[in-house]
Amino acid sequence: MQYTQLGHTDLNVSRICFGCWQLSPSFWGEVPTGPWAEAVRRAHELGVNFIDTADAYGDGHAETELGKLLKKDGTRDQFIIATKFYWNFADGPRHPDTTHDYILRACEASLQRLQTDRIDLYQIHAWDPITRPDEVARAFATLKQQGKVRWFGVSNLNPEQMDLYRRHFDVSCLQPPYSLLARDIETRELPYCLNHNIGVINYSPLFRGLLGGHYRPDSIITGNRAKGPLYHGEGLRIVLAAVEEAKKIAAGLGLTMPELALRWTLTNPAITSAIAGVRKPEHIEGVAKAAETTLPQKIWHDLASLFVKAKSDALAAAKA
Ligand SMILES: NC(=O)c1ccc[n+]([C@@H]2O[C@H](COP(=O)([O-])OP(=O)(O)OC[C@H]3O[C@@H](n4cnc5c(N)ncnc54)[C@H](OP(=O)(O)O)[C@@H]3O)[C@@H](O)[C@H]2O)c1
Repeated sequence: MQYTQLGHTDLNVSRICFGCWQLSPSFWGEVPTGPWAEAVRRAHELGVNFIDTADAYGDGHAETELGKLLKKDGTRDQFIIATKFYWNFADGPRHPDTTHDYILRACEASLQRLQTDRIDLYQIHAWDPITRPDEVARAFATLKQQGKVRWFGVSNLNPEQMDLYRRHFDVSCLQPPYSLLARDIETRELPYCLNHNIGVINYSPLFRGLLGGHYRPDSIITGNRAKGPLYHGEGLRIVLAAVEEAKKIAAGLGLTMPELALRWTLTNPAITSAIAGVRKPEHIEGVAKAAETTLPQKIWHDLASLFVKAKSDALAAAKA
């Protein structure tokens, strides 16, 4: 496993991060916690020292399970824990909330669920257009001064939004989507983060499993993912044909498809760590090798071109 500094922080994180969104039944269905717990332990054995979760994952469920497990195993101090706030699910139907008092309450609740006295990286899950950045900053200053949070990060923000926050507090990290099928951040967000030495931890590196190499053209993907145009019908068939081509490239490098897909994201110098979504030990075992090195220039570009064409053909087919 490779490790690297997260932006300008003192956090030395593994280049693979363990993502806990899978413990969110409203999106992924019920996930048994036994294999999930084994996956956390396996990740630790493989050298993964970085875990990403959020209070919103299962409305507290993911943080609660993680807290229980790390307490039981006595491994809290061996992981760098990143969590998020933004979705207020404590006061009726969930809604965005980044007000001063809510942030202090949300952080306290996360600390209790995680059974820890500090959060290593506390992230705003998304942009809240109706709360002033200086109000967010006041809450952050209190949390930092109390030693409850070490570093602050943001997720799903553009450079203008990061600029607004950065006038009031230190933004250490951005968490955006990034994969062979989702490259929007290459134009603005990644250069911005490189320029300001902000770490980037990309989510959905397998495009929610589609780049995992285990789907076939006749596969039926159910649940929330099925709503996306690339996850069913002709769109799915076209993307999976590109995945078959990519598997040949992977085999030539001695890699599997998920390893290749994660390594492709980690080859971008702006990316600090790729967050892999994990339900069972095989998931983390299947991607750990991705972090050993980077891809050669030509192969990175060949893959990029393959999936640019596949995505555009797939979206056109889905519209037809
Ligand atoms: N900040 C945000 O707004 C945000 C949004 C989304 C995610 N995240 C974070 O990022 C993490 C990763 O995102 P994601 O869950 O979308 O990630 P992903 O890694 O793109 O997809 C995860 C899915 O891929 C499949 N998979 C996992 N490992 C595999 C392997 N080795 N081989 C083949 N298939 C594999 C599994 O689904 P199947 O086997 O069912 O196909 C798994 O549920 C989340 O857990 C969360 O921590 C953050």
